[in-house]
Amino acid sequence: TDRSAGPNCPGSLIVVSNRQPYRHEYDGEDDGDERTIAVDEPTGGLTAGLDPVCQRTNGTWIAWGDGDADFDVTDDRNCVAVPPSSEAYTLRRLDLSADAVDSYYRGFSNRVLWPICHGFTDLIEDRPDDFEWYRSVNDQFATAVADHADEESIVWIQDYHFALAPRTIRDSIPPSATVAQFWHIPWPTPETFRDCPAAVDLLEGLLGNDLLGFHVDRYATNFLECVERTLPSAAVDRKRRAVRYDDEATTVVATPMGVDAASYDRMGRSVDPSRLSSFLTTNGIPSETVLGLGVDRLDYTKGIPERLAALERFFERNPDWRGSFTFVQKATPSRTEIPTYQRYGEFVRNEVDRINSRFATDGWQPIVYTDAYLEADMLAALYRRAGVMIVSPLVDGMNLVAQEYVASSSEADGALLLSDRTGAHERLGTHAFSIDPTDTDGFARQIADSLSTPRHERRRRMSVLRNRVFERDVDWWMATQFDWIRSVHDDRRPDPTS
Ligand code: G6P
Repeated sequence: TDRSAGPNCPGSLIVVSNRQPYRHEYDGEDDGDERTIAVDEPTGGLTAGLDPVCQRTNGTWIAWGDGDADFDVTDDRNCVAVPPSSEAYTLRRLDLSADAVDSYYRGFSNRVLWPICHGFTDLIEDRPDDFEWYRSVNDQFATAVADHADEESIVWIQDYHFALAPRTIRDSIPPSATVAQFWHIPWPTPETFRDCPAAVDLLEGLLGNDLLGFHVDRYATNFLECVERTLPSAAVDRKRRAVRYDDEATTVVATPMGVDAASYDRMGRSVDPSRLSSFLTTNGIPSETVLGLGVDRLDYTKGIPERLAALERFFERNPDWRGSFTFVQKATPSRTEIPTYQRYGEFVRNEVDRINSRFATDGWQPIVYTDAYLEADMLAALYRRAGVMIVSPLVDGMNLVAQEYVASSSEADGALLLSDRTGAHERLGTHAFSIDPTDTDGFARQIADSLSTPRHERRRRMSVLRNRVFERDVDWWMATQFDWIRSVHDDRRPDPTS
């Protein structure tokens, strides 16, 4: 995609995120210019979308320098110019200690905030010291932001790893600069949020933002209700979605994130068919099979066991499809140092084996599980080849995979099975095959129905989905967030007439 044009930030942009847009691998010994640097390009919706904006605005991106075991210390702040080809902006990487990472990332972020925001309160593990480390890492990021910020800066913080930083940043950068954040995961109801340790600190931290974005209205409303209940002195205007607290104003908005639809569409079409057939052959998938597909991080929110149960029921009830429908589950191992995640991965793999041993025949198995790395264009080609895509999370803030599938489906005759518990369902639910992931019978019936729906009807549904996904792509999402940022940024600046 031509990324030289597109949404622009109304000031000098400073992005803050846990993951970095580029990873540098240094080969061999450090002998000056001879040292080769391999750089992983940005992948994933957010980094791939924000990177070009940073390039156009010569911004700064501050992130945890994960994996860069050996920092290229060009200055004492660990800054590098990226991308290597054009050096358009500054990537500042924070070197967090092993203890800090264990407590801030694997602890408070992913053992407390992740489960609570997704409503899995029984999985919360509030270990001693994790919150204090979370605070200290948030402070470290805030200090780094202050190093780079000026009067015109727009600080845009991403996600739940940084609930405390906004207030510290607000207090340490010029008053005319703007602090905004996008919370990429759900915000829970007050009943669930009641179980959250450090609730007051978290809300006070988030209200340091001038603008706080969520994917859908429900999360924005939940947030405002939590503020009302937890901070009695906050003035909450539900209609305008504005909060005044401690002399600062925060505007809360809902803007559903999209994907780079044009690029998925193009990648899906561009892959040489022989690469796709060799992928199928290598994985023992008959070339003429109807292909079902699931693509997920191995995370307990994604409803993979529920999907497998529905597939098992489907094969029980529809023996005619044995041998002619194959379901590929592409899984990306995630947060594997956390035992809950290890157990989940093991359970999923065991279930796949069990179901396969029930139904497999000589040349066919019902479920092909792979956690091998797939290049972005191969993934798009696989989406395009899949007749049925199953997205069945128990809870999901948005779900970009559903949108990637639709964007890649240029043949427009595939069916999307989509859980009604995802943010994506609010816009795509009417023309997807809607499922409740916990209703195994209903889910299995939807798989059967999607397979027997006539082609013209699948096309009709898919063409509506494609319009929606292309209309609100990642550039639309960014442009909309930047419009909001522009309006709060204008409010911060002194009125020249007064
Ligand atoms: C979710 C979060 C992201 C996170 C991603 C991958 O989508 O909203 O912030 O980067 O999961 O998880 P990981 O822990 O590997 O960064």
